Amino acid sequence: MEVRLLEGDLWQTPADVLALGVYEDEGIEGAVARVNQELGGVLAEAITRREFEPKPLKSWHTYTLGRLLARRVVLLGLGRRHEFDATQLRKVAGRLAQECQQLKAETAIVALPEGTGSLAGWVQAATEGLIIGGWRFSGYKRDPEPRVETRFWLALPEAADRRAAEEGVRVGRIVAEAQNLARDLGWRPSNLLYPDLLAKEAVRVAHASGLEVEVFDESRLQELGMGGILAVGQGSQYPPRLVVLRYRGQRPQTLALVGKGITFDSGGISLKPAQGMDEMKFDMLGAAAVLGAMSAIAALKPPINVVGLMALAQNMPSGTAYKPGDVITTFSGKTIEILNTDAEGRVALADAVSYAAHLGADWIVETSTLTGAAIIALGHEAAALIATDQLLAGEVVAAAEEAGERVWQLPAYPEFKELYKSQVADLNNSPGRDAGTITAGMIVSEFADGRPFAHLDIAGPAWTKAGPLNAQEQGATGVMVRTFVRLTHRLSRDLT
Ligand code: BES
Ligand code: ZN
Ligand code: MN
Repeated sequence: MEVRLLEGDLWQTPADVLALGVYEDEGIEGAVARVNQELGGVLAEAITRREFEPKPLKSWHTYTLGRLLARRVVLLGLGRRHEFDATQLRKVAGRLAQECQQLKAETAIVALPEGTGSLAGWVQAATEGLIIGGWRFSGYKRDPEPRVETRFWLALPEAADRRAAEEGVRVGRIVAEAQNLARDLGWRPSNLLYPDLLAKEAVRVAHASGLEVEVFDESRLQELGMGGILAVGQGSQYPPRLVVLRYRGQRPQTLALVGKGITFDSGGISLKPAQGMDEMKFDMLGAAAVLGAMSAIAALKPPINVVGLMALAQNMPSGTAYKPGDVITTFSGKTIEILNTDAEGRVALADAVSYAAHLGADWIVETSTLTGAAIIALGHEAAALIATDQLLAGEVVAAAEEAGERVWQLPAYPEFKELYKSQVADLNNSPGRDAGTITAGMIVSEFADGRPFAHLDIAGPAWTKAGPLNAQEQGATGVMVRTFVRLTHRLSRDLT
């Protein structure tokens, strides 16, 4: 997928598609008015006859029959002007990319609507939308349907600063491709992507992007005393891994990003019901988001250091599997009594989060498809945030807002700690249904060694019917990649 700034004149460039936005509360004007005129009023007619309503994410197209150099015109509804922001722009651009796929367009000129805020940010959002919206998992069919690679040329509003726009395209491409990387990993089934193979993908990405990388195999995990990751993985023939990725900035401060990477979550001995169990191949999307974000961070080079940790295991029932009642010792020395082997994420994350603290991270932000209860609370629209530090929580919320992702904070009341006490160990892993999303996040936070910690439960938004930009390609979304990238900028900015 190519996204570039249009070199020449919009009217003098042949293309398969010319895409133009229309506001719901404004008439036909500017480039749309000119196209309308050239096409004998057909656009105005389509709007009057309500064949095209310029509501958000609605679209309409027509052939130009040689009256314009573009073969077709696509109109995109933008909704109301005062409600149209970068998040809307990203979605509309995503919809356009899908439309171009259906129209088999090889080239598309996109007239960028005028924006608010910085031009670079505006162009970045459009670029992200096109690259995320145009992506599809390649799949495993013997005879896949052929796909076109649309080349998009952005036509800027008049008097726009080209240099700033070029920067927006560059950053947008980096971030969107990182998000698509996470989506691709998510889609892969666990027979083809088990912990060792996901670790190898991380190594490949690290080498390609200039990150330092270490992979701890089962004997190294044993030496380090990482009883949590080991316990979760011990039922599977595919052994667990911990991946440590490092980006080095100029400043002393370090952000740690930690992701849950359960390549398949059968529930283990506390086996899940059969219905929908296939979706548990997606239970590694936290780790995939960390890898995606790290690849983008390597390219964007923020001032702070960033460590990425991927806790990888396959949760299976077998004669060697961990069991309810087992007590395990984590890297921190804290012990966990297992009450339910299906509450495996927090057990594996315990080691990864305390390792982040051990590395001296100043902030620890962890993301995981941790609880079904998060879907009950927030559906698929938002990630649940549980934090032990309100300053960090505020930064995460602001970063998500800027990135066009949704995060909603839940309270980490100290009273909830009672729920995960254990008679025999420091804590239990399955305190029951009350405040299930919160207690899960608080259990993980117990391993942050008192450092500013934020947990993002992405059980809802990690994979959806609507796809990453709503009503688009369903499945793995790569959610949190964009938020994490923004977060590195925000945390860097606050130092200066
Ligand atoms: N990976 C699941 C959570 C999940 C479920 C994510 C459905 C997305 C969709 C997690 O490991 C899990 O099984 N959690 C249990 C915890 C319980 C046993 C305390 C849950 O949510 O039921
Ligand atoms: Zn799980
Ligand atoms: Mn589980």
